[in-house]
Amino acid sequence: MNKKIGVKILGTGSYFPKKLLTNADLEKMVDTSDEWINTRTGIKERRIAEKNETTSDLAYMVSLEALKSSNISPDKIDLIIVATITPDMFFPSTACFLQKKLGLNSIPAFDLSAACSGFIYGIATVRAFIESGLYRTVLLVGSETLSKITDWTDRNTCVLFGDGAGAMILSASEEDDNILSTYLGADGAYSDLLFLPGGGSANPATAETVNQNLHTMKMQGKDVFKAAVPKMALSAQKALELSGKKLKDISLFIPHQANMRIIEAVAKKLDIPMDKVFVNIHKTGNISSATTITALDEAIKTGRVKRGDLVAMVAFGGGFTWGASVVRI
Ligand code: UT7
Repeated sequence: MNKKIGVKILGTGSYFPKKLLTNADLEKMVDTSDEWINTRTGIKERRIAEKNETTSDLAYMVSLEALKSSNISPDKIDLIIVATITPDMFFPSTACFLQKKLGLNSIPAFDLSAACSGFIYGIATVRAFIESGLYRTVLLVGSETLSKITDWTDRNTCVLFGDGAGAMILSASEEDDNILSTYLGADGAYSDLLFLPGGGSANPATAETVNQNLHTMKMQGKDVFKAAVPKMALSAQKALELSGKKLKDISLFIPHQANMRIIEAVAKKLDIPMDKVFVNIHKTGNISSATTITALDEAIKTGRVKRGDLVAMVAFGGGFTWGASVVRI
């Protein structure tokens, strides 16, 4: 019998645009306060892309970081996947723009759309591709410029989001198997609670759709909050079960960074002490598909986790989509 192909995490990276937008800056833009944003969400500041800075620009910068951390050259990559809800254009895919920027050609490249769960969906996809023997070394990127689809006049949403990108390079391995489990879920019945109505085939862009601001994100925050907590807790439990590990074996929980109160509620539901939960929402805001991977990269770089540790990554987002993965660093 053929030996199972393992999936090794070769390296990770994170990248943020230079421009900082603080709560104090937002106070000058909409009727809000640093106090409200901080106590209701835990966010203090977020990074914002320049006008001419695209999702594939961030993806390119973060890919260079991940290649460096993996100690491989770009020509070793044989598949590119970019998880994003803020592509440069409807088409070509952001992954194709990234491929060009990396000076690669011929290798397959595509985008994956699962909103804030995008990176977890990406890990599951890459794992399946590598385990099947189709591809050996895959560049997986979560990259977002949410500032470009934000309604900067709506205080309900504009204080929540930021821009950034994270990347992971995974490779077939005969010795290591770093992805212990992946669990994914979705429920399209809730597609009208967090969405971007304009520009697609439902509401093609017209002067009217632009006047109505339909090209920006809409969210029923309270309903999303209520759904996120149980689904993230369930995802973590399912991924743990599938990995054959117990809560006590996990060194660090990395939840999607959408709201500090959601993070605390999920930790409480799972009975995980907050010192085992990674939080960086105060300086990033919600960066959708890039949250879990930029958090993991920071946890590795700051020594919060070390080689061999088990990490559980959990996400929830528009769709609704949700998922979790237990990985060995
Ligand atoms: O990434 C995908 C997942 N996304 C999420 O998980 C987001 C989930 N939702 C949330 O994080 C929270 O629901 C929010 C942070 C969006 C909102 O917090 P909330 O505690 O649910 O507040 P709310 O929407 O019920 O609003 C409470 C009050 C309202 O005023 P009234 O009606 O009580 O007078 C809002 O108008 O707070 C007001 N408000 C604000 N006030 C100052 C809403 N946004 C702001 C603001 N500044 N930025």
